[in-house]
Amino acid sequence: MRIMNVVGARPNFMKVAPIQRAMGQYPQLEPVLVHTGQHYDEKMSKIFFDDLELPQPEVYLGVGSGSHAKQTAAIMVAFEDILLQYQPDAVLVVGDVNSTVACALTATKLHVPVIHVEAGLRSGDRRMPEEINRIVTDALSDILFVTEQSGLDHLKQEGIAAEKVHFVGNVMIDSLRFYQEKARQSSILTDLGLSPWEYALVTLHRPSNVDDKAALQTILSAFSELDPQLPVIFPVHPRTRQRLIDFGFQNQIESLTNFRLLPPLGYLDFLNAMQHAMVVITDSGGIQEETTALSIPCLTLRENTERPVTITLGTNQLIPLETGAIVAAVQEILAGNTKTGQIPPLWDGHTAERIVKVINHVYHA
Ligand code: UD1
Repeated sequence: MRIMNVVGARPNFMKVAPIQRAMGQYPQLEPVLVHTGQHYDEKMSKIFFDDLELPQPEVYLGVGSGSHAKQTAAIMVAFEDILLQYQPDAVLVVGDVNSTVACALTATKLHVPVIHVEAGLRSGDRRMPEEINRIVTDALSDILFVTEQSGLDHLKQEGIAAEKVHFVGNVMIDSLRFYQEKARQSSILTDLGLSPWEYALVTLHRPSNVDDKAALQTILSAFSELDPQLPVIFPVHPRTRQRLIDFGFQNQIESLTNFRLLPPLGYLDFLNAMQHAMVVITDSGGIQEETTALSIPCLTLRENTERPVTITLGTNQLIPLETGAIVAAVQEILAGNTKTGQIPPLWDGHTAERIVKVINHVYHA
């Protein structure tokens, strides 16, 4: 059975790596790795192939950046040719990026079954591009793998047949556990002159935070107030770097003494930086989950999250986009008032094995 495993953007790589590896244990499965090229910079893509020991993609579509319609359409056009050429028995997509929905839609139209890993998550916010991608992908999928209870609840509410849905846990945490020890050998902290547990790690890339000048200014004002209190490291996503330039914020940031802008980090360096942070401040989906798995406090600069288990069980907190609220939340952590959490059910490092077992059973039963 030939299965096309699709990756496109940075958060896909650590989800597909364990699935590719688990598929290797089944001689009857033939995984074909397809990279759409949605992310293409060395530090947004290639470094993850190296760090996660992913094989070279058998197919590279090279679509690059563009508006939502242009990027999604370019992936669809290129992927259709590949499906016709390779005639796979199923297409496996992960997460909620434009590559996910584009490949799911293309496969469905050609009657190729779609497998969605990380199904059922909903923020309830349709202004988020990922929310549209999630809803459409789930509606089209034939097998849906779910990370947390809320995913099961949403799919039930949306009328997805229960026999298509499998609660398997979080495959991204498979990569985290697999590489946690290796990541400890990263020299990132010594290179930056940082001591464990004495710095904050920041990531920001969501359009609602970085494409809006006032929102980004609110966040930067919080960092100005926090500057005398603790070192902050900020690996900057290309979208955010561009906005900092567009909005003329470069000087403001450079005037902060404790605040370090870095290029995007690879998987192992970032995991090391995350597991030794006093606090992580982010708007990423995946980092909310990784910090919960690592029991590191996480402040999420969003009004909602599609991953509520990170709040109900984990170490995550939603923080409103107000300078005072961000500063106060960090100060609570500096004062030692941190939220302790538990690891959510089945986030045990063995999700990919469960996923591949189900796939093998469905297609070879
Ligand atoms: C995408 C995903 C988002 C995910 C994020 C992780 C969608 C709709 N969004 O957002 O869910 O959380 O990836 O990073 O799929 N760029 C580069 N080099 C690259 C890639 C992008 O410079 O390798 C720049 C380009 O200017 C591009 C911009 O970043 O226009 C945004 O890239 P894009 O893929 O459209 O969305 P992300 O913001 O990365």
